[in-house]
Amino acid sequence: MGKLDGKVAIVTGAARGLGRAYARRLAGLGAKVAVTDLNLRSFEEFEAEAQAMTAESTVAEIQAAGGGAIGIEVDVCDEKAVAAMVQRVSDEWGRVDVLVCNAGGGRGRPVDTKASTLDPALLQLVTGMNLYGTVYCCNAVAPIMKRQRSGKIITVSSVAGLSASTDGGYAHYGAAKAAIAHYTRYLAQDLGPFGITANCIAPGTITTGRIVATVMPGSADANRDRTERIALRRLGTVEDCAKVVEFLATDLSDYVSGVVIPIDGGLLR
Ligand SMILES: NC(=O)c1ccc[n+]([C@@H]2O[C@H](COP(=O)([O-])OP(=O)(O)OC[C@H]3O[C@@H](n4cnc5c(N)ncnc54)[C@H](O)[C@@H]3O)[C@@H](O)[C@H]2O)c1
Repeated sequence: MGKLDGKVAIVTGAARGLGRAYARRLAGLGAKVAVTDLNLRSFEEFEAEAQAMTAESTVAEIQAAGGGAIGIEVDVCDEKAVAAMVQRVSDEWGRVDVLVCNAGGGRGRPVDTKASTLDPALLQLVTGMNLYGTVYCCNAVAPIMKRQRSGKIITVSSVAGLSASTDGGYAHYGAAKAAIAHYTRYLAQDLGPFGITANCIAPGTITTGRIVATVMPGSADANRDRTERIALRRLGTVEDCAKVVEFLATDLSDYVSGVVIPIDGGLLR
């Protein structure tokens, strides 16, 4: 018996990285999982992600382990497509119990995205991928969860959404992730009377294939500083985050709502 037997989960951005780990963990707990992503083969973009795969997709991995999964390609920035995706999951499995709004990320380089020189187009793009994508997914599942009078929504901020970088770079991403954290507090108030919880996680530096390929090749000094600022003196793993998602998706967190949980090993702020 799994804790999520009979439950249905949607994870966005689940083709690789953190989203893949969330999808696999929820499936391991017994949930049927809709693995959604802009590109269900996005793991091919980063060597470490491609190497980590044990089957040809996250869906195939879950099915090989005996779980139930469907794959749906959807852009979370497209409100109508998000609504259609949620409708398809509901038609297929009759309910939606867990939503993990994981799709998102940044664009551009920190040096080019300082707070006082932000390119409006980049700001719009990153706000769209993160904040609007999250809001569209929550809007789409809310009527279903309200009818059920139950549901667990998990949104994804970042430590960059809790405190600013020392040089003011990546301000568009930080602002979008801060907005997600605060939006989640409002969501919890809105949906709480229907028995629905809404909580947010704020990962620190987590060694996904993307981070290993794009952030870690920085200087030895930068990498040492990054680790030394963390109380636990190590970077995070996708499983560090998946464990917190398990907590927020299961009955362990039934009386927890409207909180933002940093998953950063005790990063100095
Ligand atoms: N890895 C970290 O250190 C870290 C730290 C803090 C927060 N986060 C957040 O966690 C989430 C996942 O991070 P990751 O490192 O696994 O990222 P990643 O880039 O490796 O994976 C993101 C996945 O989301 C998909 N995606 C991107 N835009 C999308 C869209 N518009 N619609 C649907 N799918 C889309 C991508 O195709 C990809 O499969 C992101 O929201 C990110 O901002 C990550």
